[in-house]
Amino acid sequence: MRILLHRADGVVEPWISGFKAALPQAEVVVWNEGAPTAPCDYAVLWSPTAAMLPDLQHVKAIFLTGAGVDAILKFGDVLPPVPIIRLGDAGMAIQMVEYVAHSVLRYFRRFDEYEKQARRGQWQPLPQHQKEDFAVGVMGMGVLGTRVLASLAAFGFPVRGWSRSPREMQGVSCFSGLENLDEFLRGTRVLVCMLPLTPATANLLDRARLSQLPEGAYLINVARGAHVAEPDLLALIRSGRIAGATLDVFRNEPLPGPHPFWDEPRITLTPHIAALTLPAESADQIAGKINALERGETVADLVDRTRGY
Ligand code: NAP
Ligand code: GLV
Repeated sequence: MRILLHRADGVVEPWISGFKAALPQAEVVVWNEGAPTAPCDYAVLWSPTAAMLPDLQHVKAIFLTGAGVDAILKFGDVLPPVPIIRLGDAGMAIQMVEYVAHSVLRYFRRFDEYEKQARRGQWQPLPQHQKEDFAVGVMGMGVLGTRVLASLAAFGFPVRGWSRSPREMQGVSCFSGLENLDEFLRGTRVLVCMLPLTPATANLLDRARLSQLPEGAYLINVARGAHVAEPDLLALIRSGRIAGATLDVFRNEPLPGPHPFWDEPRITLTPHIAALTLPAESADQIAGKINALERGETVADLVDRTRGY
């Protein structure tokens, strides 16, 4: 069995050793642009280039080394009609919990303001925010969103979730569909975007939608930059209508040098690190799914191309 591996970052060693341990019968072929590629049974990749597509035509399935699928589905019908399988957690959910809980608590406990006060040598206790005024709303109640909701509920925050189809989760006020989005937003003090990027969710958070949030709301975006209309968010923050934002993802990554987000003190930004792919866990999960496919079984985390995630 041959596995075609592509890593844009060039870091292939942990993947090769992960597959050697979990799938010893497999030979890992590292894809190199311009070099001939032996026909492979499976492909393991993140964001393919157009030059890779001919080498995907004969594989039995494509495994993604991440949760989001927008980087591959953009190729549409040029992709072979084989199963595309994303990672299901593989160590990402706990990282999302850490990132979002940290961001919510930093704002709720006013640690961002205390950091600034400390730099000014100022000793000034501030009034505490109250949890009952601090509903956290998570857009996307999937593999990652549900873990984040559970962790925020454990801190005692009122929690709300929004999804495409109706869902139920204990302790969470659940909303679904575009027709209920404004109601979800109106009761949300901290909005966390954890949606997949699809034609239905691109540009969803524009001026009109963000203006449904209560005065002084806060945005955390750990999904994709294209969910947010960046100039609208900036204008709402500068006017004070939105208190600030923590952003891990951007329309253009790396965020270009002359971008107003860099200079906006009410925006905290990180370089797309909210939940990193862990090679050992991920290779192990993919190997288990390859074994299941070889036995003729179905596997979890199959991408639905029509739905877009
Ligand atoms: P998932 O399991 O596919 O869950 C997606 C959720 O979004 C589901 O609840 C789904 O609704 C909902 N949804 C999809 N389209 C919708 C729509 N049009 N309206 C309302 N809700 C909609 O995804 P996941 O594994 O939780 O990952 C979410 C995203 O996180 C990924 O797609 C990726 O972009 C991002 N991500 C970012 C990082 C990072 O480091 N920043 C790391 C990993 C992932 P249903 O429940 O009805 O299906
Ligand atoms: C990272 O952004 C992922 O989707 O896994």
